Amino acid sequence: TGLVTVDPGFMNTASCESRITYIDGDAGILRYRGYPIDQLAEHSSFLEVAYLLIHGELPTPQALSAFEDRVNRHTLVHEDFRTFMGTFPRNAHPMAVMASALNALSTFYPESLDPFDSDTVELATVLILAKTRTITSYVHRASKGEPLLYPDYSRGYVEDFLRMTFAVPYQQWDPDPTVVNALDKLLILHADHEQNCSTSTVRVVGSSHANIYASVAAGINALSGPLHGGANEAVLKMLGQIKENGGDATDFMRRVKNKEDGVRLMGFGHRVYKNYDPRAAIVKQSAHEVLQALGGEDELLDIALGLEEIALSDDYFVSRKLYPNVDFYTGLIYKAMGFSEQMFTPLFALGRMPGWIAQWREMMNDPQTKIGRPRQVYTGATERDYVPGDRR
Ligand code: CMC
Repeated sequence: TGLVTVDPGFMNTASCESRITYIDGDAGILRYRGYPIDQLAEHSSFLEVAYLLIHGELPTPQALSAFEDRVNRHTLVHEDFRTFMGTFPRNAHPMAVMASALNALSTFYPESLDPFDSDTVELATVLILAKTRTITSYVHRASKGEPLLYPDYSRGYVEDFLRMTFAVPYQQWDPDPTVVNALDKLLILHADHEQNCSTSTVRVVGSSHANIYASVAAGINALSGPLHGGANEAVLKMLGQIKENGGDATDFMRRVKNKEDGVRLMGFGHRVYKNYDPRAAIVKQSAHEVLQALGGEDELLDIALGLEEIALSDDYFVSRKLYPNVDFYTGLIYKAMGFSEQMFTPLFALGRMPGWIAQWREMMNDPQTKIGRPRQVYTGATERDYVPGDRR
């Protein structure tokens, strides 16, 4: 068949052409639709970036406000869906609940499933952005056994997400503007990252013409692993363990370098960035700001800064071009905001949703798209005859 090479992890395989996100891993460059990530993080908003990723251009003020308004008005979920969100075991991992919830949306909104009708796809886009906000807050509330609040259409996307997540029912509750801005920025930084594991999953599932909800639910599942989105949760666990052991990272770093039990410095390294992750620099700055605004220095931040300092001057990390990635400092910020560790990866999923939607839509509109169906190099037994049980 002419197949000669295996490409484990698709290190050298481009699965598609894309106009959405540009990364230069050696130069530490990340751009959405041509706009540098630092400019978007500084000046834009999460829903504006969602619009940009999905539609290809920054919206006019009128288009943005119409889009925000439409998303806002769809944040309410069906009452049966609310009930469904409350039926998972209390200690279920929020990522499992979130993936189930996104998958279940297709059963509640069957009018939004046709992948070939552009109005329907736009409806599904709005529904997913709107409902994911509600779902993410419900995942948090349900894990605490707290009541699931209704959305308030008069508030912005991130502001009302925070209110629905943390407010006490019937009490006036306004989030700290520093927290709103910081979370908005973090969601922007996570909004797309070209053909990573979860995005490739979304594309492969969608390539069979499965509906968009099934595709993004698969993306959430791919994101849940500790080598991908689950790293932000793993970083905090790692920092916590170092703190419990007296705060000295030397022994931990020795185990990482000796590859003892496969232990890795979580939040370090990246398949594409081999110089630095431009998102990490912005997140590090934000960690300082948020921790200062919300109450003093965190011991875990000091441990993280210490680990980074050791790693950046250690030959093991330098020679392998391992630098902090976006996940190294995000968990510290989420923790300071009041999120439990298990909520960190759902926040990543909330941020990545526009990217998954944009990539799914691009894939569906690309005449080059074919069903994702890689080949293999077979290395098993050659033909042999069946042996009856009594002769084995
Ligand atoms: N700690 C210690 N050693 C590492 C690490 C790390 N975090 N990452 C890579 N290495 C070593 C690895 O052992 C290998 O060494 P050697 O050449 O001696 O075998 C070398 O560096 C190359 O690593 P790799 O696993 O072949 O690289 P990859 O491109 O397949 O993996 C990665 C990329 C992100 C999965 C990996 O760096 C990793 O596991 N990092 C920790 C988990 C993490 O922080 N993930 C979040 C990634 S960013 C957000 C996202 O996209 O989800």
